[in-house]
Amino acid sequence: MPVNVVVVGSLNMDLVTTAPVTPKQGETILGNEFNTNPGGKGANQAVAAARLGANVDIIGCVGNDTFGAELIDNLDTENVSTTGIDTVDNVSTGIASITITEGDNRIIVVPGANDYLTPERVHNKKELIENADIMLLQLEVPLPAIEEAVQIAKINNVTIILNPAPIKELPDSILSDIDWFTPNEHEMEIFTKNTPNHSKHLQKFIVTRGKEGLTFHCNNQLTKVSAYKVSPLDTTGAGDTFNGALAVALKTEKNVSLENACLFANAAAALSTTKVGAQSGMPNRKEVEKLIKTNSMT
Ligand code: RIB
Ligand code: NA
Repeated sequence: MPVNVVVVGSLNMDLVTTAPVTPKQGETILGNEFNTNPGGKGANQAVAAARLGANVDIIGCVGNDTFGAELIDNLDTENVSTTGIDTVDNVSTGIASITITEGDNRIIVVPGANDYLTPERVHNKKELIENADIMLLQLEVPLPAIEEAVQIAKINNVTIILNPAPIKELPDSILSDIDWFTPNEHEMEIFTKNTPNHSKHLQKFIVTRGKEGLTFHCNNQLTKVSAYKVSPLDTTGAGDTFNGALAVALKTEKNVSLENACLFANAAAALSTTKVGAQSGMPNRKEVEKLIKTNSMT
């Protein structure tokens, strides 16, 4: 039986410019290429899980404009159910302005409609959470909406993964109710600084470290899991792929070991970096299994 995943989160259109260098203040330069790609951490996690065979719903907001319509079309094509998306008037669809220069990417996100995801809107779609095995959250939508989603999931025994990206301060009510916290190493550093009492709430968390793999922390034990070796072209969305794949891996087999679930998610994330664009390189299950079999690790 396929895993039922619900994502509560952001949808953005990524406006991606590649340029030879970053212009200085007041300077105009000629860039190389421009592309619009569907993105947003919520939508990216949803697509990652759907490509791996899950039944996926997303709860979120887009504006009543062409980007919003394109993002919904894209999710339809990717077999992500879009009944949980509200189209909001008089606000633009979220965008991410991404500049890629050699070895560097800079991102400005304008949340637009994502900021209109209220607790009421989440509540109105609560069946989508009640029917899920696992819920994925990130931090590109307002915290009250996340708190509402956490409460609904908790009452219904739905496992919760919170990917704290971009990092912001989190109330104890959220921290104490989530099952998995999945920051990258930079987010973990900021989080530990701002939340010195975090060990009171967080027993289980996974810190991702890009090509260095990850460490998971479970009942005060720390385990290191390596990354798979690939030739990366664009790492945008690799973290989202990791989280989408982790959700699927945790619920596909009963009693799967955390280490095997992390290996599966690491393999999916590695493959996602081999194509340009957040969603374009996201693999299907066969591709992930093949990489795990050939087993080239860093
Ligand atoms: O994690 C990558 C995503 O972050 C991009 O798709 C962009 O939309 C930003 O939200
Ligand atoms: Na990619």
